[in-house]
Amino acid sequence: MNRRTPPPLQPIGPRSYDEKTPNASRMYDYYLGGALNFAADRELAERAKTVLPVTPALARLSRSWLRRVVNACLDEGIDQFLDLGSGIPTVGNVHEIVQQRNPDGRVVYVDYDSTAVSHAQKILRGNANAAILHADIRDPESVLDAPEVQTLLDFSRPMGMLMVGILLYVADDYDPAGLVATYRDRCAPGSLLPMSIITLDEVQQHDPATYEQVLGLVSVYDDASEQLHVRGRAEFAAYFDGLTMLDPGIVVLPDWRPDGTTEADAHGPARWLGIGGMGRIG
Ligand SMILES: C[S@@+](CC[C@H](N)C(=O)[O-])C[C@H]1O[C@@H](n2cnc3c(N)ncnc32)[C@H](O)[C@@H]1O
Repeated sequence: MNRRTPPPLQPIGPRSYDEKTPNASRMYDYYLGGALNFAADRELAERAKTVLPVTPALARLSRSWLRRVVNACLDEGIDQFLDLGSGIPTVGNVHEIVQQRNPDGRVVYVDYDSTAVSHAQKILRGNANAAILHADIRDPESVLDAPEVQTLLDFSRPMGMLMVGILLYVADDYDPAGLVATYRDRCAPGSLLPMSIITLDEVQQHDPATYEQVLGLVSVYDDASEQLHVRGRAEFAAYFDGLTMLDPGIVVLPDWRPDGTTEADAHGPARWLGIGGMGRIG
């Protein structure tokens, strides 16, 4: 799908602090207007914006989708969440959304980036119902069996297993569908699994100029510590095997239960780039 030779696979494991290599969490923070990024991150993020000017809009649409799916989980009575690839805390973090509506709600964040982890540790200090785990989601046992996870979350009850804006960083060699199945199989019936990816399917059909730009964005991320893996709708749909899809199924992010926010982004070229859906176990 990409006209390039991809860089070598990144080994599995938590990342140590490295401000010289641009990384996904700090670049995402930069797109969202955050301050937890370094010169190398900003330089590559600016290159990304030159290639695909709506990159920040895509980040905002993804963040808005995260908020809507967490609220949808809360509406369904979910009170505990495992957030895989949680990123650098910014405005509207999952534990804030959850605990505003349910002060006893529990959230465990997982990220392998040390900047994301150290900042989350700071803002979670004193919060007995939320924690961050420094782990690589491609090693599910290191996540699911971690004391932070086992102490705060009860796997015999339904939970929200969030995979928002994370599977696009998992190379085929690490079997994203198999990983999803491993996380799914540890969840109790009634659990909800929202997942999103970047796809070329929609944009190719609706906006050929932006399609070319997305190919350019994928190449830019070859110089980051994680690469982007765009996938087709059919491949993504298979991640939901064994789950019951909730309305409206798999759609472009702005069309998933829109709430009137991020309207400008939703009607620009970024509209076609992210797709997501939410499945229920049982
Ligand atoms: C684009 S951010 C998404 C943040 C958040 N989920 C959201 O929707 O706003 C992706 C995050 O996934 C993290 N990440 C990427 N690959 C990972 C892996 N294999 N294990 C753990 N975290 C990973 C990155 O460090 C980054 O912070």
